[in-house]
Amino acid sequence: MKLIIDEELCTACKQCASVCIRDNIIVEDVAREVGSNCFECGHCMAICKQKAITLKSFEGNEDRIIDYNPHEIPVEYEDFLKFLKQRRSIRWFKKKKIDKETFDKLFEGAYYSPSAQNEQDVEFVVLDEKLDEFMNLVYDIIKVDEDKFFRIKEFGDYLRDKSSKEFHPLLWEGKQLILTFSTDKTSAVIANTRLELLAYSLGLGGFYSLFILKADEINHDKLMDFFPEIDKNKHMYSAFIIGYPKVRFRRTIPHNDIKITYF
Ligand SMILES: Cc1cc2nc3c(=O)[nH]c(=O)nc-3n(C[C@H](O)[C@H](O)[C@H](O)COP(=O)(O)O)c2cc1C
Repeated sequence: MKLIIDEELCTACKQCASVCIRDNIIVEDVAREVGSNCFECGHCMAICKQKAITLKSFEGNEDRIIDYNPHEIPVEYEDFLKFLKQRRSIRWFKKKKIDKETFDKLFEGAYYSPSAQNEQDVEFVVLDEKLDEFMNLVYDIIKVDEDKFFRIKEFGDYLRDKSSKEFHPLLWEGKQLILTFSTDKTSAVIANTRLELLAYSLGLGGFYSLFILKADEINHDKLMDFFPEIDKNKHMYSAFIIGYPKVRFRRTIPHNDIKITYF
């Protein structure tokens, strides 16, 4: 049993049962948990007007339970769209590094992210002091594709002779890197996108790296040796270089029209 149902508070309104996607609740005189199928999504608890349902697993995390006005959308469409329009990849950064407190603010966005089967298994690594060591490993893995991608070739040249390039071919001026791991790719990408957007709202910026991700595609086991604490069933599905922007862009740039089909 995953739920604590306060029968005194329950008014048998059936809202909890109506939003349960696992048919785990039936309501007669009061709500009762009937199955063992609950995957702890919390819909029943989140909808209950009476606060009659709690998930056992949430005990100790009561400070995470915040009431809000269900009829109020806290962001206006126009503001949010304007915010999205102003996003650009940032590769040139100030020297100032992001501190842990600020990173924690970003990860707060990921905390509320959806995940496949409600696995909630997305985890992050912030690479800072170990960034160079990690990038050496990345090169060691992705160098097999040096002939296919000029960037990887440039990266190798740079590692052999730092004076050969003004900027790091993969990190540009980036000094901090967020990696996202999960068993499910979509869940990882969604979680990272949330922290990315929050980052812009705090005046931070960054860009995604395709080449760092190649390390996972080419030799997952070797990559994961760098992260002994992380379950090897998880993959590195996002690599986001982040920092305080040195450049400020001034206008939007046209994109290809998005192809949308309505059937
Ligand atoms: C999945 C993904 C991988 C990317 N990989 C790289 C990369 O390896 N290096 C880089 O400089 N930019 C990378 N980018 C950034 C794109 O080059 C960038 O989004 C594109 O040039 C458009 O510019 P904008 O982001 O400023 O609109 C990546 C973007 C995405 C979404």
